[in-house]
Amino acid sequence: MNKTETIKYIGVDDHITDLFEGQYPIPQGISYNSYLILDEKIAVMDTVDMHFSTEWLDKIDSLCPKHPPDFLVVHHMEPDHSAAICLFMEKYPEATLVTSQKSLVFIKQFFGVDFSSRCITVKEGDHLTLGLHTLQFIEAPMVHWPEVLMTYEENSQTLFSGDAFGTFGIHNENWADEAARYYFGIVGKYGMQVQKVLNKLTFLSIRTICSLHGPRLTTDIDTYLNLYHTWSAYEPEKSGIVIAYTSMYGNTQTAVRKLAQLLKEKQMEVRLFDLSRDEMTNVVAEAFRYDTLILATPTYNGGLFPYMHTFINHLTERNYQNRRIAFLENGSWAPTAAKTMKKMLEACKNITFCETIVTIRSALSEESHAQLLMLAEELSNTTPAPK
Ligand code: FEO
Repeated sequence: MNKTETIKYIGVDDHITDLFEGQYPIPQGISYNSYLILDEKIAVMDTVDMHFSTEWLDKIDSLCPKHPPDFLVVHHMEPDHSAAICLFMEKYPEATLVTSQKSLVFIKQFFGVDFSSRCITVKEGDHLTLGLHTLQFIEAPMVHWPEVLMTYEENSQTLFSGDAFGTFGIHNENWADEAARYYFGIVGKYGMQVQKVLNKLTFLSIRTICSLHGPRLTTDIDTYLNLYHTWSAYEPEKSGIVIAYTSMYGNTQTAVRKLAQLLKEKQMEVRLFDLSRDEMTNVVAEAFRYDTLILATPTYNGGLFPYMHTFINHLTERNYQNRRIAFLENGSWAPTAAKTMKKMLEACKNITFCETIVTIRSALSEESHAQLLMLAEELSNTTPAPK
């Protein structure tokens, strides 16, 4: 048996849940990944969502019918991964839980059960030998909860990475798109903490990454690590412009479509999103991936059209920074949206606001069309992100 054949996938696919964490649409489903390491001692790495616990326990049974698992390693006590802990511990009364001290507290909070007497709590640098395999534990606080651990299995050079490098979807054709939506949605606020963990990983030789969601990554490991470095440093991954807009009667939409056309004529990449209709969590991820953002919205109730307000909140609570931003506002009698948007974003670090603000009075006019031309000119003649 080679090194990787001893690490068996026992995860499950969820095609039932519509909203992950009650807010992220997952039309392509999601996987809850769990692994079983066969050795002198058998370790199960994480559990699954409660709805799939029977399927998961059956998989464990079929792989080790005679020798029950010795350890259950819990990297992260969020219920998408850890709902089946009690069922496992009940079914395998000789098994020992391996997790962080904080996780043990969370387990008691969630399930009302204290596993202290059946638990090894581990911290940074601790090791657990299974036989040929040795687990080395790495603390990864806030990636994505404070109790999170990663495990590096030394023999196979496999990193069990918790939520990091995870994706929505099950059979993704493009890892980066769903991984970005997962990263910026779930972990994006904690870039500094992700950077700290990435620094620790530079000392390891990693051949395989097993995240809690999405595919097992076995090739081009540096590509994934580098993308995570870019994302967690809040650096733009791509050069180009995301236009996020809302429109009530189509006039703001007409204006941003015209602006997009002008920018494309200047050879700039443009992604146009209608915040009322396009998936918000996807637009948030795209705003973080590109270097320039244009926000366009009608003034509404003296503030912002609601979807725009929500969108900007998503950005600011995830520490949006290091970008160039331009505004387009619409208002029939008191257009104030640009001022409101700027105020919401002023606390973000290292933002360059474009000088040109496009103000539309109800519908595009000769004057506001001229402002579109000026903005397109400014965007093509200035540096996207401050250095
Ligand atoms: Fe996949 Fe933080 O849960």
